[in-house]
Amino acid sequence: MKALILSGGHGTRLYPITKAVSKQLLPVYDKPMIYYPLSTVMLSGIREVLLITNPEYLDLYLRLLGDGSQLGIHIEYAIQNEPRGLADAFLVGEKFIAGEKCMLILGDNIFHGRGFGATLRRAASLEKGALIFGYYVKNPSAYGVIEIDAGGKALSIEEKPSQPRSHYAVPGLYFYDEKVVEFAKELKPSARGELEITDLNRKYLERGELQVEILGRGFAWLDMGTCESLLEAANFVETIQKRQGFYIGCIEEVAYRMGYIDREQLLKLGKAMEKTDYGKYLIEIANGEQK
Ligand code: G1P
Repeated sequence: MKALILSGGHGTRLYPITKAVSKQLLPVYDKPMIYYPLSTVMLSGIREVLLITNPEYLDLYLRLLGDGSQLGIHIEYAIQNEPRGLADAFLVGEKFIAGEKCMLILGDNIFHGRGFGATLRRAASLEKGALIFGYYVKNPSAYGVIEIDAGGKALSIEEKPSQPRSHYAVPGLYFYDEKVVEFAKELKPSARGELEITDLNRKYLERGELQVEILGRGFAWLDMGTCESLLEAANFVETIQKRQGFYIGCIEEVAYRMGYIDREQLLKLGKAMEKTDYGKYLIEIANGEQK
C-alpha cells in the first residue's frame, strides 16, 4: 500500500498567519504540523509516500523532509494548483498510486492513542473496499458524518449535514483498494465546488464495501483549521509529552522503532538538533534511555 498526504489549500481560516506560510508547516508545540500525519503514515508500515502541496511551498517541504531517505522511507512530491477537494488527491496522485491500494491522510490531522499502531497496520492490510474511521464529537456538523447500526455497519454518510444523523465524525484518514482512482474520476464537484471525499466514500458504501472502525473514548483525534484548534492541539501535545516523556508525532523515533533506520542514524539526526529537547529526546532513545 502507498500513502498520500494532502497538504494543500490556502488555510484561509487561519489568516493572516497563513498568508505567506503553508498551514501544515506551522508549529504545533515543538514540531511542524506535517510531522504528525507523517508519523501516522510511518506507523502504519507504509514507506512510499506522496506529499501533495501548492507550487509555492514545494521548496519548503523539500528542505524539511527531502526524499525521506534520512527516515528510511521514500517521499515524492506532487503539486495541486488549486484546492479542488480531498478526493482530487487521487487524481493528482494517479501516477504515483500506479493501480495499487492507498491511504490518504490530511496534513492537519493529529491521531494519538494506545494501540493505534496496530490499528493502522491492520487497516493497511485491507484486501478489498474502503476503511474509514468514526470518532464521536460534540459538533458533528463540521465534518463528514457516518451513521452506523448496532453491529457497526455503515448506513449513511453525509458531508457537513445541518441535521447530523449521528455524532460520529469521519477523521481525515482513509484506506482504499485499487478502485479508488477510477471512483474519484467519476465524482462531480459539490455545491462548494470540491470533489468530496464523502462522495467517494459513499460509492464504496453503496457497494457494501465501506468498513468503519470506531476510535473510542480516550482516543485523541484533533484537526487544526482554526487558531483555537491549533492552540488546543499544541497544548495537548505539550501536556502529554511533559507528563509522560513520550513524544507525539516524532518521525525520527517512529523510523527507529519501526526498523526503518538504525541506532547510528537516529543518533546522527538527534545530534544535528542537540540544542533542543527534541534532539536530546532522539539521543536518549538511541542510547536506550527511553522504553
Ligand atoms: C474534510 C472532509 C470531512 C472530514 C474532515 C476531517 O473537511 O470533507 O468529511 O470529516 O476533513 O478533518 P474540510 O477540512 O474540507 O472542512
